[in-house]
Amino acid sequence: MQDLDKMITDAGAAFQAAGDAASLANAKAQFLGKDGLLTAQLKLLGKLQGEEKSIAGKRLNEAKQAIERQLKAREQALEHEVLAARLASEALDVTLPGRGLGKGGLHPITLATERIEAIFASIGFDVADGPEIEEDFYNFTALNTPENHPARSMHDTFYVEGGHLLRTHTSPMQIRYARMNKPPIRVIAPGRTYRVDSDATHSPMFHQFEGLWIDRNISLTDLKNVYQDFINQFFERTDIEVRFRPSYFPFTEPSAEIDMRFPDGPLAGRWLEVSGSGQVHPNVVRNIGLDPEEYIGFAFGSGIERLAMLRYGVGDLRLFFDNDLRFLAQFNP
Ligand code: PHE
Repeated sequence: MQDLDKMITDAGAAFQAAGDAASLANAKAQFLGKDGLLTAQLKLLGKLQGEEKSIAGKRLNEAKQAIERQLKAREQALEHEVLAARLASEALDVTLPGRGLGKGGLHPITLATERIEAIFASIGFDVADGPEIEEDFYNFTALNTPENHPARSMHDTFYVEGGHLLRTHTSPMQIRYARMNKPPIRVIAPGRTYRVDSDATHSPMFHQFEGLWIDRNISLTDLKNVYQDFINQFFERTDIEVRFRPSYFPFTEPSAEIDMRFPDGPLAGRWLEVSGSGQVHPNVVRNIGLDPEEYIGFAFGSGIERLAMLRYGVGDLRLFFDNDLRFLAQFNP
């Protein structure tokens, strides 16, 4: 019977030593299993008789219960350990800051284009759109630049299959829009344009907006006023000088480059070219289907990147096309 007390103590120690469910099952088998130590004792009962048998039976039964109690306690302790370990390994620190959803925004060229559209819409200009893959006719011929005309070499053109090309300027929109609308015509046409050119100030794809105004009794003064007014509104100041410098375009006569000059800031006093312009050439007026004796037109074509660089203080044109979020995000605070 002393052996039984020792067996209970041994079983308790063995259960305690078991570090996981599998070792605990082994320890259980060692005492309570088919060939276990306690089971072996129970088997011996059969050899006893009478009172001796019932006392021994009672003792064995108590020992069995004691061992089972210890087993149960160890099982529960192990379950808790497993649960605690799992909770620890799966713990979430709910106090960590969230990653957040990045806020999208419009590209600075889109923002500039929308400003330009709003400004011209406010003075009665329509906003038109046209194809980037253009017919040679609209890009050159209808604009008084027939084949073999030397002015064609002013634009390094991307040609595509089927006699088409990527428009080298937004001027083809003059023809497309004016053929579909009756004068008075007041329209701007912003969009992508393409030339074989690439460095810090030239990109093979860039943006222009074309302006066209055709009516009966308008003059160069109207063009100058419209452009000065646009510059004032675009830069939100009234002290920028604008000048018209004689130039040449096959589709305008006379032609002028439009320059502007800030009175202050890093570019103070420097004339900056922002647009081509001129009186629409009589041949182009005829190509539109109007009589140049009756109608007079003025047109301009400005680079949107140039204006956006000046407006936002961007030093390198390529920043617009690198898609670096650190640059782009500054335009959408
Ligand atoms: N299309 C000319 C260019 O891209 C600009 C321009 C437009 C000039 C309209 C005169 C009139 O160079």
